[in-house]
Amino acid sequence: MSVHKSVKRVTTHVLQEMKRNGEKIAMLTAYDFTMGRILDGAGIDILLVGDSASNVMAGHETTLPITLDQMIYHAASVIRGVQRSLVVVDLPFGSYQGNSKEALTSAIRIMKESGAHAVKLEGGREIRESVERILSAGIPVMGHLGLTPQSIYKFGTYTVRAKETAEADRLIEDAHLLQETGCFAIVLEKVPAKLAGRVASELEVPIIGIGAGGGVDGQVLVSHDMLGMNNEFSPRFLRRYLNLHEDMTLAVQRYIADVRAKDFPSSNEQY
Ligand code: KIV
Repeated sequence: MSVHKSVKRVTTHVLQEMKRNGEKIAMLTAYDFTMGRILDGAGIDILLVGDSASNVMAGHETTLPITLDQMIYHAASVIRGVQRSLVVVDLPFGSYQGNSKEALTSAIRIMKESGAHAVKLEGGREIRESVERILSAGIPVMGHLGLTPQSIYKFGTYTVRAKETAEADRLIEDAHLLQETGCFAIVLEKVPAKLAGRVASELEVPIIGIGAGGGVDGQVLVSHDMLGMNNEFSPRFLRRYLNLHEDMTLAVQRYIADVRAKDFPSSNEQY
C-alpha cells in the first residue's frame, strides 16, 4: 500500500522514544482490513494481529489451533487498511518452539507474504535461539512473558502469573534476557502490577501490559473485548468502551422486524 508523505509511521524507534519521553503506548488487536483501517485511523500506535484470532475470529477455545497460513491471511488483510500503525504479528503455536530454523522460516513467511512490520513470540530463555535467528534476518521481535496462552495446557488455568517469588524472579531475568537479545518491546500479560512496574522501570525497551497495571509503558487489549462484542469475557483488567454485542443484536432485530413488516426497503432504497 502506498504511504501518504504526511503520515509519520510508528516504528520500533518511535516506540522507544515514546518510552524515553514518558508517553504511553496504545496497542489493540486487529484481524481484518476494516478493523485495521478504523483503529489505524483512530490513531492507535501498535496493531497486534494476535493469535487470539483463534478465539475471537474462529471460535476455538484456545490459541493453539490457528495456523501460520491463517495468521498470514489475517495479517495481510490488516496491513491493507493501515497507514500509520506498527503492525506486529504473532507467530502461532508450533511455528517456532524448539527449532530456530523453523522459527526464522515462519517469521520470513509472515513478513514476505503479509507485509507486516514485526513478529511476536511467547516465552523467555527457552526461545532465545529462535529470537536471535529471527533478529539476524533483520526482523524486529516483540517478546511476551507472564501468562502466555500458547502454554495453557502447561499452566492449566488463565489465572494471574508470577505471584510467587521464584516465578517473578524468573520473569525478571527473562525480560532482561529478551532485551539483551534485541527485542524492541515486551508484552507482559496478567502479572501483578508491582512486578510489571518493576520490569518497566528496569528495562529500556517498552513494556506493554495486559492485566499488568498502570506502571508499564503501554497497554494492549483484544479489540473485540474492549468494544464489548464478546460479552462472555469479563476479567478484572478489561475496560469495555462500548457494548457492541447488545447494540448489534438490537440493530439486527430492528432489521429483521423491518424486513418482516415490509418496511425495508422503502421506495427511496430501491432502483
Ligand atoms: O493474541 C493476543 O491477542 C495477544 C494479546 C493478548 C497480547 O497476544
